[in-house]
Amino acid sequence: MNDATRGTGGPGDGTRAVRAGLPEPVKHEPTLPGPVFAAHFHLPGDPTGPYTYGRDENPTWTLLERAVGELEAPGRDGVETLVFASGMAAISAVLFSQLRAGDAVVLPDDGYQALPLARAQLEAYGIEVRTAPTGGDAQLEVLDGAKLLWIETPSNPGLDVCDVRRLAEAAHARGALVAVDNTLATPLGQRPLELGADFAVASGTKQLTGHGDVLLGYVTGRDAEAMAAVRRWRKITGAIPGPMEAWLAHRSIATLQLRVERQNATAMRLAEALRERTEVTGLRYPGLPDDPSHKIASQQMRRYGCVVSFTLPSRERADRFLEALRLVDDATSFGGVRSTAERRGRWGGDAVPEGFVRFSVGAEDPEDLIADVLRALDATAG
Ligand SMILES: Cc1ncc(COP(=O)(O)O)c(C=O)c1O
Repeated sequence: MNDATRGTGGPGDGTRAVRAGLPEPVKHEPTLPGPVFAAHFHLPGDPTGPYTYGRDENPTWTLLERAVGELEAPGRDGVETLVFASGMAAISAVLFSQLRAGDAVVLPDDGYQALPLARAQLEAYGIEVRTAPTGGDAQLEVLDGAKLLWIETPSNPGLDVCDVRRLAEAAHARGALVAVDNTLATPLGQRPLELGADFAVASGTKQLTGHGDVLLGYVTGRDAEAMAAVRRWRKITGAIPGPMEAWLAHRSIATLQLRVERQNATAMRLAEALRERTEVTGLRYPGLPDDPSHKIASQQMRRYGCVVSFTLPSRERADRFLEALRLVDDATSFGGVRSTAERRGRWGGDAVPEGFVRFSVGAEDPEDLIADVLRALDATAG
């Protein structure tokens, strides 16, 4: 791994994570102020900000938005972050605030499984949707005349990676904006704005908050006009996080570097262990030197994520394997401190084999987790 903690000079990632977004110390005040539960704020006279009505602004969001912005775009001026009720709320905010009838957008055809629903809605509004696979930079073929390029890298669940810098240059040369779904990498794994993107968008439900108890999303962007439209969209749809969720998220970010470091290192070890198993095919982890994603990933990512994907010989074998695991919950989502895994084909939305397993590595002791996986594979052989 390259020097993951000191990507831009200045403090390391652990230091930045524990201090991200904290207000200046005030005597007798807590380090991280508690959630502000308010539908409205005292507002005599002309209705000017910062805090007027709870659908527009909230002091707990302000601190969280500052924290995410410091991690996504350290040291960059003019960058704004807005938090949302979920990752899909954030994704929809960018898509539907930036695109109009007659515009064209490029989406991945192998991205998160709710994207096809967004696609159908975009098309219903008269927006042309073109798709391309994530790997191989095939987006270049369909960029002409597009208003927005949407990238998800690494992709969920296939873990393909595309060259953000190359695609952003090509898109900008054609006048298109670029958004990167940074959910899987987290801002400690990849910083899309530094790679040339206009928006970093993510589900904070996953590794960013990491405890499987919060739904959250965010958009970080550097174009003031585009971000004003995203903000307006949040106000129109009311897709806002509750103060409690925002506060929990901020508290969780303090341990982001610890969790990412542990989970991603164990993911690498698990991938290495799975490589030795004859019943495992289609093993994918961008950190493996021989993974198809590794070359580009090593150029643009600072850490490779906590998700490992692989295929077992059949649906039955995968189901029995998941049932035999003792330390791993059979559950969807990823990024939490407790390992989860699922047979992804059960949802029907992804183009994956029946025995395809998406495995999210948690913060358990690596020896315990890998022993559990190998035992479950042995127990379900034959
Ligand atoms: C890559 C990616 N983007 C976006 C989302 C949507 O996030 P949320 O569930 O918080 O709406 C997910 C959810 O799994 C995801 O995996």
